[in-house]
Amino acid sequence: MAGNLRPLVAGNWKMNGLKASTEVLRAIINDYDAALAGRVDLLVCPPATLLTAFADLAQGHRVAIGAQDCHSELAGAFTGDISAEMIADAGAAAVIVGHSERRAGHGESDADICAKAKAAWRAGLLPIVCVGETRAQRDAGQTLAVVERQVAQSVPDTLPADVVIAYEPVWAIGTGLTPTTGDVAEVHGAIRRQLVARYGGQGESIRLLYGGSVKPSNAAELMAVEHVNGALVGGASLFAADFLAIARGCCG
Ligand code: PGA
Repeated sequence: MAGNLRPLVAGNWKMNGLKASTEVLRAIINDYDAALAGRVDLLVCPPATLLTAFADLAQGHRVAIGAQDCHSELAGAFTGDISAEMIADAGAAAVIVGHSERRAGHGESDADICAKAKAAWRAGLLPIVCVGETRAQRDAGQTLAVVERQVAQSVPDTLPADVVIAYEPVWAIGTGLTPTTGDVAEVHGAIRRQLVARYGGQGESIRLLYGGSVKPSNAAELMAVEHVNGALVGGASLFAADFLAIARGCCG
């Protein structure tokens, strides 16, 4: 865990969840007691169809709600997309941008993601910018070069408000595989140095999440790595008990 940054554990539900899943959020809210809430921030990012219901349910509680993507424009002829303003209007506080499933599956470029991060700020949302190398890139020794390029080009040059960066090795997402703690330390340390060089003191306070097969059994070990300030959790975030166990591991 890095210094004194308050950890954030964010759940990315991806394309999972129906109205009945509100029960999972209810359980998360109920079990996120004051002791835990005093030590770690929680964010749940359901699919867009559930944003309003989740935000309504979380209102007055400490669990924040976020979206998984946004369009960079305010409004207009963009069939199927939602704007950052719509996400804010639904009651959400954050948005994930540049997840590898968007980069790969929807052809999103670093420039697209940079524009989405700016849109998030425009709407008063916290952008969570995802970066990470593929297996082939890691095997070719390109991990740091790839991640540093993504950070350089996906995170805007000026930071008018807070931003979170999530390092998610593509090969670790949904596979049960995780990098060694040494590998995580290397990448997170490099991102931190890059941010400090670029933003000065502001770069010290940006939370860096690790994501990719985070589970209750490995959370404490991963979260203890220097410059890891929380987790972006996919599969395990669909289960309230697992999500909360990860949050506890994060601040243990
Ligand atoms: P996972 O997904 O925890 O299921 O590996 C992480 C993510 O894609 O954010």
